[in-house]
Amino acid sequence: MSLSGLNPILMTIPESFESARLLIRAPLFGDGAAVNEAVIESIEELRPWMPWANNIPTIEESEIHIRNSRLKFLDRTDLQLLLFHKETGQLIGSSGLHRMDWQARSFETGYWVRTSYAGQGYISEAVEAITNFAIHQLEANRIEIRCDSRNKKSAAVAERSGFTLEGILRSEKCATDGSLRDTMIFAKVRGVEY
Ligand SMILES: CC(C)(COP(=O)(O)OP(=O)(O)OC[C@H]1O[C@@H](n2cnc3c(N)ncnc32)[C@H](O)[C@@H]1OP(=O)(O)O)[C@@H](O)C(=O)NCCC(=O)NCCS
Repeated sequence: MSLSGLNPILMTIPESFESARLLIRAPLFGDGAAVNEAVIESIEELRPWMPWANNIPTIEESEIHIRNSRLKFLDRTDLQLLLFHKETGQLIGSSGLHRMDWQARSFETGYWVRTSYAGQGYISEAVEAITNFAIHQLEANRIEIRCDSRNKKSAAVAERSGFTLEGILRSEKCATDGSLRDTMIFAKVRGVEY
């Protein structure tokens, strides 16, 4: 059945899938402690780029975030996806599909990696799996990645994953330190990149 015109609440969206090394799944009540541990380990690397990493979260705050995130997954307003290493069982980061337009079938993906798992290709692997999930399960027409033009590691993920740089929005918003940032916009579009 075509998904076009379907109210997204009626969609059957798988809550987990796998890539070679990762289990990728929707958040569950109780994931807050694992997220908190990974965020605290990675806080120095996250802080320059993620506004929410300005303060060190308590376990309770992480659990509140996760529970809200699960509710959003269920009502289809935001699809956060947690990344677990299949062998160690550790939470290695987070990604998801955000700021969606269900009519146009357009989504934005974002990501962060747990510092002890950085530099090993896990995020590129997750982005490929999540992109395929968006294309095949959600009939995505467009998947976007936005990042601060100074965030070379994030831009490298987009390039490595085959996204096309469409443009740079100059002085688009404030970075976490309050300075004005330029925003790079990468995308994959049906009929062009896939
Ligand atoms: C952006 C971010 C997620 C990138 O993480 P990352 O670990 O560099 O990305 P990947 O997991 O794709 O790993 C790529 C690196 O692993 C290496 N690598 C090793 N094995 C690999 C494999 N099998 N496949 C691909 N790359 C591999 C690559 O060469 C690359 O190394 P390099 O950085 O030395 O060039 C991370 O820097 C981060 O969390 N930053 C803070 C949050 C943030 O900025 N998020 C994005 C906001 S827009």
